Amino acid sequence: MASQKDYNEALHEFKGLFQRFPLVPVYGIPLMEPIAHQWAPIENFEARVDDLLISTYPKSGTTWMQEIVDLIFATGDVEKARRAPVYVRIPCLEICSPPPVPSGVDRLVNAPSPRVIKSHLPFQLLPKSFLEKNCKIIYVARNAKDNLVSYYFYDLMNRTQPDPGPWDGYVKKFMEGKVAWGSWYDHVRRCWDERANHRILYVFYEDMKEDLAHEIRRVKDFLEVELSEDIVQKIAHHTSFQIMKDNPMANYDTLPSTFLDRTKSSFMRKGEVGDWKNYFTVAQREAFDADYQRKMEGTTLRFRDVL
Ligand code: A3P
Repeated sequence: MASQKDYNEALHEFKGLFQRFPLVPVYGIPLMEPIAHQWAPIENFEARVDDLLISTYPKSGTTWMQEIVDLIFATGDVEKARRAPVYVRIPCLEICSPPPVPSGVDRLVNAPSPRVIKSHLPFQLLPKSFLEKNCKIIYVARNAKDNLVSYYFYDLMNRTQPDPGPWDGYVKKFMEGKVAWGSWYDHVRRCWDERANHRILYVFYEDMKEDLAHEIRRVKDFLEVELSEDIVQKIAHHTSFQIMKDNPMANYDTLPSTFLDRTKSSFMRKGEVGDWKNYFTVAQREAFDADYQRKMEGTTLRFRDVL
C-alpha cells in the first residue's frame, strides 16, 4: 500500500491516460465511474472518534477550508503547512484514480490520528461510521450560481470529470443535479437539516469572503484549539486568495497536466462572490431563480447576494 507521500509521485508516474470518466449512480447520486466501481471500501470506511471531516459540494471553498484547518492545527506555522500539496495533507475519502495510484481509502486507513478527511459525498452517502463515532464535521456551502460557474470552469480543466459541454446545457445539468456528486440543492439542504443531530459547523463561503478572521475564529472554537488573535490574523493572511494562489502547496499546480489542463482555466480562478453575473444571461437567471425557489422551498437555509 502506498503511503501518503507516494500519492503525488504516483500521480506523476502514472503513464496511463486520465480519462473523462462517465457518471454512474450510487444510491441515485451520480459519481465518477471509478468511485462507483470501488464503492464498498468507501461505504465501509472505519471512521475514528477523533477524525475531522471537511464536507462540501465541489467548488464551494473546500481547499480554502482545508488550508485554514491545517494552519489551525499547525498553530499558524506556515512552513509546516507547506510540507506537501493540500490534497496530500488532507486526502479526499472517495477519490479513486486508476491503479497503481492509491485511492483515498488506501491513503487514509493507515494514516495516523487525528486524521483530517475531505469528502464531497452528500450526507446520506457518508460512511455510517462518521455518524456512529459522532465525528466533527465542517461543512462549507457556497451560493448556487457562483458554485455553478466555478464548477463549469473546473470541469473544463479537470480531465477526469465529464466534459461540461456548452454553457447553456451546463446550467441545466447543474439544475437537474446531473453533475458529479449530484444535486447542489439536496447537498446543502441535507447538511443544514442535520446540524441539530450531529456535530456540524456550517460555514458559508460568502461569510469567509466578508470576514475571514471571524470564520477562522468560529472554526478554531469548534475544533477546541486555543489560538492568539495574532495567529488568527496570520492564518487569515496566509489563506487570502492571492497568497493561496501563489502557494504551490495550495493552488493545485503540483497536479500533473494530464489531470488538470491549465490551458482551460486555473484552480484558483477568481475567488469572488457574484462572479455569476458575468456569465448568466437574463433568461438563464430567470429560469434558474424560479427553479431555485421551488427547490429551496421550506428551508431556513439562506444564501446572501444571490438573486
Ligand atoms: P472560483 O472558481 O470561483 O475562483 P474547491 O476548493 O471546493 O474546489 O473550490 C474552489 C473555489 O474556491 C474556486 O473558486 C477557488 O478560487 C476558490 N478559493 C480557493 N481558495 C480561496 C480563497 N483563499 N479565497 C477565495 N476563494 C478561494
